[in-house]
Formats: sequence, C-alpha cells, structure tokens
Amino acid sequence: MSVKGKVALVTGAGTGIGKATTEYMRAAGAHVVAGLFTEAERSPTSSFPQRLLDVRLQADWDDAIAYCRGEFGGLDILVNNAGILIEGSVEETTDETWDLILDVNLKGLFRGCRSVIPEMRQRGGGVIVNVASIDALSGAIRHLAYSTSKGGVTALTRSLATDHAPDGIRVNAICPGTIETPMVEKMFQDSGDSVAAREISIAKHPLGRLGIAEEVASVIAFLCSSDASFVTGQSISVDGGRSIR
Ligand code: NAI
Repeated sequence: MSVKGKVALVTGAGTGIGKATTEYMRAAGAHVVAGLFTEAERSPTSSFPQRLLDVRLQADWDDAIAYCRGEFGGLDILVNNAGILIEGSVEETTDETWDLILDVNLKGLFRGCRSVIPEMRQRGGGVIVNVASIDALSGAIRHLAYSTSKGGVTALTRSLATDHAPDGIRVNAICPGTIETPMVEKMFQDSGDSVAAREISIAKHPLGRLGIAEEVASVIAFLCSSDASFVTGQSISVDGGRSIR
C-alpha cells in the first residue's frame, strides 16, 4: 500500500481510532502530523509531530496547515477523525448539545475540508477520509444528534467527491460499527450496566465481537493510499457485518 512519503494530518489523534491511524500510517511510511484536542493527550515520546487542533477553530486549522507547509512543503492527506458522542433522544437533546455535536462532528469536518482543498489542488491532488459511523446508515437508540451529524458526513463526502474529482482529490467516508475505544467505553459505563451493554452491542455484530481501532486504521490507510486510486465518494462500512443485518 502506498502512502510512503505522503504528508497526512489526522484529527482527534490523541486516542482511539485517530491514534491507531496515526501509528498505522506512520508505519506505512507517511509523514503524519497528529492533531490533538488537548495538551493532556500529547505523548512525550511521540516520534511524529503533534499540534493542538480543535476542529471548531479556524485558527487551529490554519496553524496546522501552515505547519505542514513549513515542515513538509504541503499536505496530501486529511483524516477527519475527531468526533464526540453525547447520547439522547430528541426530547433529551438541548440546543447546546445539538450545536456542540454538529459543530465538532460535521462543521469541524467541513472547516477542515475547506481549509485543505486549496493546498491539495495546488499539489495536483490529495485524499480526504471522513470518519462517519454505522449510525449514518441505520437507527441507533438515543443517538439523535450524533446520527444526524454522521449522516451529514456521508452526504458531505459525496458532494465534496463530486466537486473535487476534477482537482484529483478523492474523498471517502468510513462507517465503523462498535469499536473498542474510550468513546465506547464511556458509552457502556453511562448505560449503568456496562457488561450488559457490551453484550448487547456484541450481539449486533455478525462477527461476534467488537472491532479494535487498528481494524479501522487499516481501512483508512487503504483509502488514503494509491491502492484505492479509483475509489471516491464512498462510505465504506467497517463493522463486522453489522450493517447487513
Ligand atoms: P475517542 O473518544 O477515543 O476519539 C475521539 C477524539 O476526538 C479524541 O481524541 C478527542 O479528544 C477528539 N476530539 C473531541 N473533540 C474535539 C475537537 N473539538 N477538536 C478536535 N478533536 C476533538 O473515540 P473514537 O471511537 O476513537 O472516535 C473517533 C471517531 O470515530 C469519531 O468521529 C467517532 O464518532 C467515530 N466512530 C467511533 C465508533 C466507535 O465505536 N468507537 C463507531 C463509529 C464512529
């Protein structure tokens, strides 16, 4: 798989899928810049650059892209991975919660794409991978705002892919099932019976288990690579078969 020598920016790279993607892509030979949400996520032993990047802040995007330009001469790959989950039905969702989820999960990603497209166009092409969710494809109990944001991600992905195919920019999304990360651990804890919640979640996946972050990272890296050179505008499920049930 060829991402060797490519310059990649990954958001939400301090934990979970973003961290695994950063490590996977680096091992595959990419120059990866890890966008971290908080200083606490910084790894003192990291062998790749880490930049604070709150996807809600245009100034942080500008800073991260300027860094990629200054250090590596530009940017070839953006992985829009940062996301938050706050559970709730429509009646449980306040305006503040709705705005926060949409701001991080959808508008943050929109800001990122808007920021990198000129840079990629100038280089003659690039790749964007957006992390959506199984919740973009099927209903999930009390995931109203989260599912809405992730459905938006798949629509935005198709639209961007259409607009920027002539620029040589491929744009795809991935839709993970339930993956063992801090986000999911918190969701299980919040249920009040984390053992039962885990069992219920496992039962939804035909492969009979939850996924691990590396299993998502490898698909993201594939979509970023030249091996996926004829793939654009797609939302690829990485879900142990959950979406076929
Ligand atoms: P996670 O909670 O470990 O990772 C999310 C990352 O986003 C964290 O590092 C967090 O600090 C960062 N983040 C939060 N707000 C941010 C902001 N404003 N700006 C920049 N970064 C911010 O959870 P996980 O599971 O690794 O999530 C990664 C992505 O995968 C998310 O978009 C999530 O919605 C998606 N996803 C996860 C699934 C799962 O089962 N774990 C299933 C489907 C989608």
